[in-house]
Amino acid sequence: MPAKNANARLTIRKAIISDVEDILELVNRFAASNLMLPRGPQYIYENIRDFVVAVDSNGFDSHATRSENGRERFLGCGSLHILWRDFAELRALAISEAYQHMGIGKAIVEFIIRESRELNLKFLYTFTLSTAFFKEMGFTAKKKEELPPNLWVECSRCPKFFNCDEVGMVFEF
Ligand SMILES: CC(C)(COP(=O)(O)OP(=O)(O)OC[C@H]1O[C@@H](n2cnc3c(N)ncnc32)[C@H](O)[C@@H]1OP(=O)(O)O)[C@@H](O)C(=O)NCCC(=O)NCCS
Repeated sequence: MPAKNANARLTIRKAIISDVEDILELVNRFAASNLMLPRGPQYIYENIRDFVVAVDSNGFDSHATRSENGRERFLGCGSLHILWRDFAELRALAISEAYQHMGIGKAIVEFIIRESRELNLKFLYTFTLSTAFFKEMGFTAKKKEELPPNLWVECSRCPKFFNCDEVGMVFEF
């Protein structure tokens, strides 16, 4: 629950098209500090159904549609990208600076783990610099050679390919 506002109400929900600009802005802000990969609008639109967002829905009037009241505050995002029969990658996890360390990242990861379980996935991978956070969430670090080849296809699209500082981690179901 964001403590900045006593009436705040944390909601984790699937992303919709109108979230794209907030996602783009947040992800690329962290990408500028080399904390995550940059993403363009085409990637976000094409993969919007992968994305989950955290919003403060305080003031949300349950009788109005979301677009009618538009009072959600965007706090963060994450995404679940399926790569093969039994595994997926958790990507683009980011919480807005002012709302970090309040349990929101944890809530998004728990949502994505639940979705992965419902999809009957066996392995959820992520590449990250935030290893302590993911360890806390039940992920374990893997050596590069222990990661499935499909993940390397994704890696080959990454600007950090020849200079990778991220750790591959996995959550096993
Ligand atoms: C990493 C990140 C997603 C964590 O989100 P968050 O909302 O701040 O994390 P939470 O508050 O849910 O933390 C849950 C637990 O993880 C641990 N944790 C959180 N951030 C941590 C960090 N930076 N280092 C070590 N442990 C951390 C804590 O133990 C915390 O539990 P506690 O609050 O009871 O101590 C967030 O800091 C972020 O957006 N960072 C910038 C982008 C980024 O690095 N993304 C990573 C993946 S690509």
